[in-house]
Amino acid sequence: MRTSIGLNSNALSRYPHIPSVYIYFSFIAWGAYFYISNRYILNICYAYSPAIENPRRYFQHGTTLTPKCLIPLLSLSHQPNAKRSGPVAPGVAFITGGARGLGNAVAVSFAKEGARAVVLVDIQDAATFEAGKKECLAIHADVTKEDEMEKAVAEAVAKFGRIDYAANFAGVTGRAGLVSDMSLDEYQKTMAVNSSGVIISTKWELRQMMKQSSIDVEEGRVPQSGSIVNCASVNSVQANVGSAAYTASKHAVVGITKVASLEGRNHNIRVNAISPGFLYTKMIDEALKRHGDLGEAHWKTYEARQGRQAAFSEIGDAAVLLSTPRMSLVNGHNLVIDNGFTINESNT
Ligand SMILES: NC(=O)c1ccc[n+]([C@@H]2O[C@H](COP(=O)([O-])OP(=O)(O)OC[C@H]3O[C@@H](n4cnc5c(N)ncnc54)[C@H](O)[C@@H]3O)[C@@H](O)[C@H]2O)c1
Repeated sequence: MRTSIGLNSNALSRYPHIPSVYIYFSFIAWGAYFYISNRYILNICYAYSPAIENPRRYFQHGTTLTPKCLIPLLSLSHQPNAKRSGPVAPGVAFITGGARGLGNAVAVSFAKEGARAVVLVDIQDAATFEAGKKECLAIHADVTKEDEMEKAVAEAVAKFGRIDYAANFAGVTGRAGLVSDMSLDEYQKTMAVNSSGVIISTKWELRQMMKQSSIDVEEGRVPQSGSIVNCASVNSVQANVGSAAYTASKHAVVGITKVASLEGRNHNIRVNAISPGFLYTKMIDEALKRHGDLGEAHWKTYEARQGRQAAFSEIGDAAVLLSTPRMSLVNGHNLVIDNGFTINESNT
């Protein structure tokens, strides 16, 4: 009894005039043909087609079995310098709320990814600035004040020549309260920082970015004169009882972001938002303390729904990556960064 792969003895017995060895041989020949065409003929297509890029060009020749006769063809498409190198974010970063918390984490991520300079804009005291600043320019300015933000942008540009990446992270939780009990004054205070502060910052950053040329981008990429990342929150896509002012202000951030992205795109400027989940910053600490044990209990359920505690750097890195020209088609987007919090229906 003959055993074979994919061809049984009954099938063979129908063609007694064809010796089975020929059939096996033809299978082997076809297999070899497909293997070789997959490996080499595709390379020839890549070499001659300007529309198709060969991913293998980014690897050293010699790691694949390239026959000598094909090397001249392959070298047509091989650019030795095409492999990416150098810093991810080499420009100048400008961060509101940068003295501490998530804004400071964004500043640190920019510094780690090779930013030429980092500008921190905040209303914190000198000691907090000192703790958060490392190698950068720290500017005391209030995002709710137009003249201060205009000056802050001008000061950064006077020192570093331009602003390539802006991240608007200045924010407050504001007082929690039911809508039916809402104090208009408290509501407006939260909106002033989280919503007006973002549009004022975006306004002066856009004005500067509209004046400047593109940062260096890879060959074939559209230019990027600037990128702005506005900090929203999971409260930009959902709500919880007692959070009217904060939730309204963060929905507004997404609205501002969408409009600014459309107004910026003809100037090669991208504007996006990020919506962090739950990170135990000083802002959160202060807010939870106002609610005593209840606050702590709520926080535990938020973290459980988020799956784990989050590190500030996870927000910082996302903001930096969103700012690079490699994200050239991402514009007007609200990126939720919450380990699945918003899509999780349960508290576990
Ligand atoms: N921590 C979280 O879980 C969380 C979640 C979602 C969104 N956010 C958002 O992240 C951003 C940063 O918050 P954080 O948690 O790092 O808090 P944080 O209090 O540690 O940092 C906020 C910073 O903003 C600064 N700031 C406040 N008002 C300002 C003003 N008028 N002008 C200039 N600077 C001002 C503060 O001085 C502070 O340094 C906020 O927009 C917040 O709403 C935080």
